[in-house]
Amino acid sequence: MHLVKGKTAIITGASRGIGHGIALAFAKQGANVAFTYLSSDEKARALETELAAFGIKAKGYKSDAANYKAAEELVNQVVAEFGTVDILVNNAGITRDTLLMRMSEQQWDEVMNANLKSVFNLTKAVTKPMLKARYGSIINMSSVVGVKGNAGQSNYAASKAGIIGFTKSIALELGSRNIRCNAIAPGFIETEMTAVLDEKVVQGWRDGIPLKRGGTVDDVANATLFLASDMSAYITGQCLNVCGGMLT
Ligand SMILES: NC(=O)c1ccc[n+]([C@@H]2O[C@H](COP(=O)([O-])OP(=O)(O)OC[C@H]3O[C@@H](n4cnc5c(N)ncnc54)[C@H](OP(=O)(O)O)[C@@H]3O)[C@@H](O)[C@H]2O)c1
Repeated sequence: MHLVKGKTAIITGASRGIGHGIALAFAKQGANVAFTYLSSDEKARALETELAAFGIKAKGYKSDAANYKAAEELVNQVVAEFGTVDILVNNAGITRDTLLMRMSEQQWDEVMNANLKSVFNLTKAVTKPMLKARYGSIINMSSVVGVKGNAGQSNYAASKAGIIGFTKSIALELGSRNIRCNAIAPGFIETEMTAVLDEKVVQGWRDGIPLKRGGTVDDVANATLFLASDMSAYITGQCLNVCGGMLT
């Protein structure tokens, strides 16, 4: 099955973690993949090679999603090199966790710019080619923390909650042009980052999840693939919780 065959996708922040998994899932299903990263040059080159092995066109761009001008330039470059943009996955994100009492203005601004302003920057830039084609699927990576809140993550939670409001608004604005916009709220996803945490602590988190396990990168990538493909052609303005029932 080739769920996104011949489509061109931009995925932000794909040099590692969830974005990396999404890039692989899309390439396996026939999409051409333009992905971004901030500093991991070697990992980006390795991913280009890995993706190209699926017989699709793939290219990594060093581009700061938080920078409005850079996002505009990126989309122009992708349109010039790939011909169009059918799918946008706003995945890039960072954390600067601390309690509000200790949070600096810089920690607030960095998270807002990388997580929320980036979504505005890229979405705004892709609307031109998507409106022209009267086709598009935009997927924004939120978090269960954006739905529920989390002590020590007020900046991150606010940015992820903002993404949900933005997603619903864009779905309302662009639905009539056949451009869909949905969000995904992953729960506890086990990545290289969580592998270094204390096993007892992590097991405690797993025990609290109805499905009794942490999520995998593939769990999130598969949900993203569904929302990117025409399998979800009648779904827009939604936030899909990929959290093993954590929010239930
Ligand atoms: N992991 C979880 O449990 C979890 C749960 C809920 C939601 N999420 C969300 O899912 C997304 C991916 O998370 P992850 O755990 O896979 O993160 P990750 O492993 O830290 O990877 C983040 C990726 O984003 C890139 N990036 C960071 N800032 C960027 C910027 N300003 N411009 C362009 N690229 C940038 C990084 O590039 P470099 O490698 O070059 O730095 C990297 O490729 C994030 O939005 C996160 O908030 C994750």
